[in-house]
Amino acid sequence: MYVCLCNKVTDRQIRDAARRGCCRLDDLRVELGVATCCGACAETAEGLLDERQQNNAPGPFALPQPA
Ligand code: FES
Repeated sequence: MYVCLCNKVTDRQIRDAARRGCCRLDDLRVELGVATCCGACAETAEGLLDERQQNNAPGPFALPQPA
């Protein structure tokens, strides 16, 4: 599905960018051009980044990390 119509960027491209380390909207702007024209896609793009970060968050049974 297209997220950014102005730059023809799909949700798949955004998820791939998030897997490669993009974690902020500014990263997506640089990498893919997302939200560099009308900006209507910004909220959806940020939602996809949040989705990725939540999937990477430690679950309730995560082991404690050494200090
Ligand atoms: S839809 Fe992304 S900048 Fe316009």
